[in-house]
Amino acid sequence: MKSLAIIGSQWGDEGKGKITDLLSQKCDVVVRFQGGNNAGHTIIVEDRKIVLHLIPSGILHDHCVSVVGHGVVFDPEAFKTELEDVLSNGIEVNSNKLRISGNASVITMYNKIIDAQREAKGPVKIGTTGKGIGPAYEDKISRKGIKLKDLLDKDVLISKLKGSLSEKEHLLEHLYKVEYPSVEEEASRLFELGQMIKPFICDTFSFLDHAVKEGKKILFEGAQGILLDIDYGSYPFVTSSSTSYGGIFTGAGMPSGKVDEVLGITKAYTTRVGEGPFPTELFSEVGEFIQKKGGEFGATTGRKRRCGWLDLPLLKYAVKCSSLTSIALTKVDVLSGMDELKVCKSYRYNGEEIDCAYPGIDLSKVEPIFTDVAPFNDDFKGELSDNLNAYIEMIEKELGIPVSILAFGPERSEIKFRKEFF
Ligand code: GDP
Ligand code: IMO
Ligand code: MG
Repeated sequence: MKSLAIIGSQWGDEGKGKITDLLSQKCDVVVRFQGGNNAGHTIIVEDRKIVLHLIPSGILHDHCVSVVGHGVVFDPEAFKTELEDVLSNGIEVNSNKLRISGNASVITMYNKIIDAQREAKGPVKIGTTGKGIGPAYEDKISRKGIKLKDLLDKDVLISKLKGSLSEKEHLLEHLYKVEYPSVEEEASRLFELGQMIKPFICDTFSFLDHAVKEGKKILFEGAQGILLDIDYGSYPFVTSSSTSYGGIFTGAGMPSGKVDEVLGITKAYTTRVGEGPFPTELFSEVGEFIQKKGGEFGATTGRKRRCGWLDLPLLKYAVKCSSLTSIALTKVDVLSGMDELKVCKSYRYNGEEIDCAYPGIDLSKVEPIFTDVAPFNDDFKGELSDNLNAYIEMIEKELGIPVSILAFGPERSEIKFRKEFF
C-alpha cells in the first residue's frame, strides 16, 4: 500500500489524531486537505498531551513531511500559536518538514467576527467552533478570498482585502453593529504573519506529484467527520468543507486519481459537538457516564460532547459516501464494564424501517431502533473476550468491511492492529 486516507466516519473526534500519529511512523508524507483550526486532534505521548489543529499529526515524526493542502482554510495567527506550542514540546519544525500551500485560503479577522456574530445573533445557531471557518469558505467560493501567497505582497493584500470587505462592511456596521479593523490594520497584521509563514509556503500540489512519482508513502489526514461534510452531512448543521474521501482530490490532489485504502475512524459509540440532530443521543445517566468516562470534551472549544449509542445506519451511509475499506474502532475501553450495551441497527422513518441513512433524510425525524448487545468487560491485556469479539463481528457484518484497528486507550501503546498498513 502506498496511500491511505484517514476519514472520520461520524461527527468528528473519533480519534483521528491518535491513529494518524501511529501510522505516520510508517509513511513519508502526511497531508491535511480540508477544514482548518476547527479541528482538534489529540496525541498523547507518555505524559504529554499535544492537540493539533492546523498542523498535520505527522509532525511528531522527524522522517515525515507534513503538508497543508490548498483545500484548507488557514488562520495565520492560530498557526503561529500552534507552532510555538509544538516547538515548546521539543518537536522540530522546519521548512523541509512542514509545507503549506500558497493557495490555501486565509481566515481573516472579518471572517472570525462574522462567525461569532452569526452564532450570537442568529437566525440559525449551528454551534460552530467560532474560528471563522464557514465565512472563510464563503469568501473562497464567492471568489473574494485571500490566498496565503497574497500575504507576501502588501499591495496585493490591501487590494484583495478591500474587495473582500466591500460587502461585509455593511453587515458589520449596520446588521451586527460591531467594531472591526480597517483594511490597513488587517493588511499589516496579515503581512507580518505572512513573513513568519513564508519559509513554509510552497506548491504542495507539485510536491505531492513528485512524492507519488518517487514511490513515497502518503497518508491523508481528514478533519471532522462524514456527518459534518457540507454535502453528505446533516446539513445545515455541518462544517463548510468536504470532509469525506472526495475532498482529498479537490483539497490536495492525488495524481494517481485514487487512494489505495480508506480507513474510517469510528468511535465505539457516537458523539457530537454543537447543534443538530443526533438520533441515538442519550439523555440519561448512561450518556453522562459515557461523557465522563470517555473524557468527551471538545479538543478545540472545551464544550461537552453529546453522547449516544453506536449508530449503524449512519455508519453504513458513511461507508458508502467515503468508500471506506475498513474501520478503526476506537474508545472501546469506554464501553468496557458497562451493565448494558445497545446499538442502533435501523430507523423508523416515514412509516418504514430503514437500515441505512441516505442523503436528504431528516435525521431529526427518525426513530432509532435499538438492539441489546451482550456487554463486555475487557482489560485488553490478553485475548479479547467472546462478547467483545461478538460486538466487533456484529459491526463488521453490518457494515460489510473489517475492523482493521482496535483502540482501547489514548496512549500510543493502547492499540491493536488487526491488519498491516504500509
Ligand atoms: P480527533 O479529532 O478525531 O483526532 O479526536 P479528538 O482528539 O478530538 O478526540 C479523541 C479523544 O479520545 C482524545 O482525547 C484522545 O486522546 C482520546 N482517545 C483516542 N483513542 C482513544 C481510545 O481508544 N480510548 C480512549 N479512552 N481515549 C482515546
Ligand atoms: P475534528 O477534526 C467535532 C463542528 C462544530 C459545529 C460544526 C460547524 O477534531 O474531528 P465550524 O466551526 O466547522 O463551522 O462548526 O462542526 N465541528 C467539529 N466537531 N470535531 C471537529 O473536528 C469539528 N470541527 C467542526 O462543533 O457543530
Ligand atoms: Mg477532535
